[in-house]
Amino acid sequence: MSSVSYIDNIFYLTTKSLSYIFGINQNKKLYHLYFGDKILEKKNISPAVNADYLGYYNNSKIFLPEIVIYDGDEIFENTVKFSFQSGDRIVEYQFDKYEISETENYTLLKIFLKDTLYNLTLILNYKIYFDYDIISRYIEIINSTNDNFIKIENFFSGVLSFPVRNMFVGYLHGKWGHEANLIIEKINYGEKVIQSRTGNSSHFFNPSFFLSDTASPNEDNSSIFFGQIFWNGNWKFVFEKRFYDIITVTGGINNFDTEIHLNPSDKFCTPEFIFGYSDKGLGKMSRTLHDFYRDIIFPVNQQSIVRPIVYNNWEACMFDFDERKLRKLAETAGNIGIELFVLDDGWFGNRNDDTSSLGDWFVNKKRFPSGLKKLISYVKNKGMKFGLWIEPEMINPDSELYKNHSDWCYNFENRERTLMRNQLVLNLTKQEVNEYIKSVLKNIVMNYDVDYIKWDMNRNLSRLGADNLDDAYKKEVWIKHTEAVYELLKYVRSLKPDILIEGCSGGGGRFNGGILRFVDQIWTSDNTDAEARQFIQYGISLFYPAVTISSHVSDSPNGLTGNNINLEFRFNTSMAANFGIEANIDNWNKENIDFAKKKILEYKNIRDIIFYGDMYRINSPYSNDVISVIYVNKTKTNAVLFLFQLNPGDTDRIKIVKLKGLDEKKYYKVNGEKKSGESLMKSGIQVKLQKKYDSRVIIINSL
Ligand code: DGJ
Repeated sequence: MSSVSYIDNIFYLTTKSLSYIFGINQNKKLYHLYFGDKILEKKNISPAVNADYLGYYNNSKIFLPEIVIYDGDEIFENTVKFSFQSGDRIVEYQFDKYEISETENYTLLKIFLKDTLYNLTLILNYKIYFDYDIISRYIEIINSTNDNFIKIENFFSGVLSFPVRNMFVGYLHGKWGHEANLIIEKINYGEKVIQSRTGNSSHFFNPSFFLSDTASPNEDNSSIFFGQIFWNGNWKFVFEKRFYDIITVTGGINNFDTEIHLNPSDKFCTPEFIFGYSDKGLGKMSRTLHDFYRDIIFPVNQQSIVRPIVYNNWEACMFDFDERKLRKLAETAGNIGIELFVLDDGWFGNRNDDTSSLGDWFVNKKRFPSGLKKLISYVKNKGMKFGLWIEPEMINPDSELYKNHSDWCYNFENRERTLMRNQLVLNLTKQEVNEYIKSVLKNIVMNYDVDYIKWDMNRNLSRLGADNLDDAYKKEVWIKHTEAVYELLKYVRSLKPDILIEGCSGGGGRFNGGILRFVDQIWTSDNTDAEARQFIQYGISLFYPAVTISSHVSDSPNGLTGNNINLEFRFNTSMAANFGIEANIDNWNKENIDFAKKKILEYKNIRDIIFYGDMYRINSPYSNDVISVIYVNKTKTNAVLFLFQLNPGDTDRIKIVKLKGLDEKKYYKVNGEKKSGESLMKSGIQVKLQKKYDSRVIIINSL
C-alpha cells in the first residue's frame, strides 16, 4: 500500500500514525491542509482556515503555505528565493505534475513546479517512511534554461505551517563543554531563529526542535511536532508567528554568507528536513527518532553492531605520554575488559601541545622511536582493537605542511588569517588538498590497520576565502566544505567498511543527522563531569539514540569542573549511553580496578538493551528530583533502569519509581522479587537513594 494518495487535487501522505495533507488550488499553488494524528477517512478533512490570504492583495495568496517561493510580494520568510541574470527577482510558480515511487523503506512523492516565465524546475520531494512515522522534505532546483544564470539566495529545505495561535518551541542551546541544554519558549510575533554560522552544526544550537501547545510538555501524553535538519554545516530554523496567527517553521541550510549559482542545466539539491508527530509526548518523539537513526540513517553494515567499549587516553594523558605509558594503560585497559584502545591527539609530527603539527600526519618519533606499529600490535595482542585520533581538516602554521603549502588554507588575500586553538582550516575545495587528506586517511586506515578513527574538528570555519573557486561559486564554499567532509568520510568507509568512526568537534559541535549517515557515534562533550553529563545526555537523548552518545568515565575531581563525584555514579552515568573510559586507570587502586571489571562485565550484558532497545525517560534532571531512565528491549523481556540522585538527600530516602515500557501482562524479576509489568508500571518500585550522587542500575528480566 502506498503512503501517498492524490484525490481531487489533494495529496494525502500517511504513515503508521500520522497524516500530512496539502492541496493544489485553482491557481496551481500549493497550500497546506493538515498535519497531525492520522486521518482515517480522507474526505473528512477540510482546511482549518481559508486557503487564501484574507488580506489586501488583489491576486490570490496562500494563507497556510506548503512552500514559499519569493514572488515579489511575500513579506514573510521565503523557503526559496531567486534572482535572474535579467534582474528579475520573482518566481511565479505553478504545479506541473507529480510522481510517486516506492523504495524498500519509503515512498517518494515528487511534486514538480515550474515558473510561468523562466525554464526553472523545482521538485519538492517528500520521503514518507511509513513504518517510522517520519517524513522528510528536500528540494531539487534545476536551471533548465539555455542561457540564464540563476542565483539562489534562500535555499531552505521546506516549511511547516500550523494554523494555531499558541505554540512553544523546544530546542537545545549550549557552548563548548556545556552542550544541549533544553530551552522551551513561546513563539511570539516575529521571527525566532536558531542557527549555526560556524561551519559545523555547532555547540550553540542543535539542528533539532519540537513544538508543543504547552510550556511543559510531558513524556507520555503531550502532542508534539518535531523536526531536524540533516546537515553538518551552517543550518537555520526560523520559527515565525505571522499575522492571522499562523506559525511556520522554515528550515534548511543557512544562507549566511552563502549564495548558490546555477548555470544552464545545473542542479542544486537541499539537505533533508525530517519531521514527525508524536501523540504520546516527548517519549514517543525520541523513540521514533531513535529507531529512525538506527534502522535508516546509520551506514547499513553498522546498523546493529555492538559498539566496543573504548578506552581513550586523552583525559589521562593530554599531551604527556610516550609508548611506555601507553603500553601500561593498554595493559590495564585489557585487564579490566576494554575492547578498543584509542590513541588520541599528540601521536604525530612534533606535537607536544596544541600549537603545532596538525597536517603532519606522520608518527611522532620522540614518542614512538620505533614507530607506531609496535604499540598497535601490543594492543591487539591484548585482545583489543586499535583506534586513532585525527583532525584532517586542520593545519597549524607551525607544521611542515604549512611550510610547503601555506596556500592550502582558507583566507582572504591581504587579510590576516584568524587562528583558533592555534590552527587554520584547510581549503577542502582544492583538489590537491583533498588528495593529500585522502592519502593520509589511506595510510592511517590501511597501513596501520586501525579499527576506529576519531575525527575531530577543534575550530570554527571562518574567513572562508577560497581563491580557487570562480567568482560566482566563491560563496558556495560553506556548502562545498560540508560536502567535502561527507566525501572524505565516505572514502574512509570505502577503505574499510566495518571501521568504526567517532565524530567529534571539540566535544559535541557536530552532533547532527547529516554526519550520522557517515559516523557511528559522537563524542558528546568535552565535559565528562557526570553531573553535567546528566543534563547533556538528557538533552541529546531527546533527538538521538543512546548508541550515538559516547560517554566516558574520567577521573575525579573532574579536570574541567573540579567536581568530585564517586566512581559508581560516574560509571552509571556513562553506562546509560555508549560507555567508555578516559580516566588514568594506572593510578586506580585495586578496589577501583575490581569495581571497573565488575561494571564492564555488567555493561556487556546490558548494552544491547541500551543501544537497540526503547528508551523511556521517567524523571528528567530538570525536575530536580531523582533522575531515572529505563531502556526496554524490543520484545519487552529485558530492561535496565538507571537512577541518579543529584540533590543532597533528605529524610525522604525512599523513592517510588513507576517504571515504563514493560509488558503489563508479563512477570519480571526485579531486585530478587517477582512482580507483574502492570504492578511495576502502575504501583512502581521502592528505591532507596540517600545521598547526593547515589545511583543505581537495576536489571529487570521477564520470567
Ligand atoms: C577535542 C576533543 O573533544 C577531545 O576529546 C580531544 O580529542 C581533544 N580535542 C584533542 O585535541
